[in-house]
Amino acid sequence: MLNEWIPVSFSDQVKSILSVTTLSRDIILWNYAGRILAFNDLCPHRSAKLSLGKVIDGEIECPYHGWRFDHNGELVLVPSLGKKINVKLTKYNTLEKYGIVWISISHELHEIPFVSEWEKEDFRKIRCGPYVINANPFRVMENLMDVSHFPFVHSNYLGDPKFPQIPEYEVEKNYRGEIIAKNILVWQPNPDGTTNGRFFNYTYKVLTPFVLYFKKEDKGNVFSMLFAVNPVSKDKSIVYAWIFMNYAHQVDPESIRKFEDEIINQDKKVLESQPKEYYLDLRKEISVKADKLSIFYRRMLRERLGVMPELGLTE
Ligand code: FES
Ligand SMILES: [Fe+2]
Repeated sequence: MLNEWIPVSFSDQVKSILSVTTLSRDIILWNYAGRILAFNDLCPHRSAKLSLGKVIDGEIECPYHGWRFDHNGELVLVPSLGKKINVKLTKYNTLEKYGIVWISISHELHEIPFVSEWEKEDFRKIRCGPYVINANPFRVMENLMDVSHFPFVHSNYLGDPKFPQIPEYEVEKNYRGEIIAKNILVWQPNPDGTTNGRFFNYTYKVLTPFVLYFKKEDKGNVFSMLFAVNPVSKDKSIVYAWIFMNYAHQVDPESIRKFEDEIINQDKKVLESQPKEYYLDLRKEISVKADKLSIFYRRMLRERLGVMPELGLTE
């Protein structure tokens, strides 16, 4: 069983019913009087997609033969029979946090990660994505926690090819099972528009196999981000993201968002060229010191998920 909360949509995208895919399964999200519910998007009669149906009197009507289901997933009417029979849809747990709908297919869950900036008034919050990337979800996560690609993939944005070295940094696992990497130093060419390059100090936290956080701090200015990755399948990922900043309150959010869009676009090209598998066996690919965080990530995946062929997670 997968004991993780999985992000499947921004909350406000679920106006009535919405079809989403995660872990290679189709799921119907249903905004039922403000509460978001999730069921298998498959009618038990002849397997039509319920999300193509409509909501009538607080019930979902299948588009094919009109079978009706209530908010508990219970079948309440078979029109051709004129009554109901005893059938129930598979229901998933749902939760809303960070303006994102999370679902779970298990009952013994790890907690939803905590990000303090979300609660803080002095931080502006800029929503980014969803970004659809045709790449393996674990490779997407790995990319998001990797700074040694900055000078090459994000040259003159986040890094400078003249300063590609990454000094050794510390990584540890905390009592919640999260991975924390501190004091990662990255040379940034033009961090604040003054065109004075300097080293920036990053902290990364792998909060769950599908949720990542990072923060960079400079003289009290904090820039941090939360990324939640929907593992749609072994070759497709959707990233939901937030930027948190306690400065630059006057800057147009659209321009900040565009910058992030550009960064993700640069990553996309490389990510989509990689294999759709991700290897738990560390010997399958060669790692160096700068990859310390991603090595810890692979260990986390081994402990918390194990082999998952449907997501391309292999030995
Ligand atoms: S397939 Fe849904 S009612 Fe027949
Ligand atoms: Fe990147």
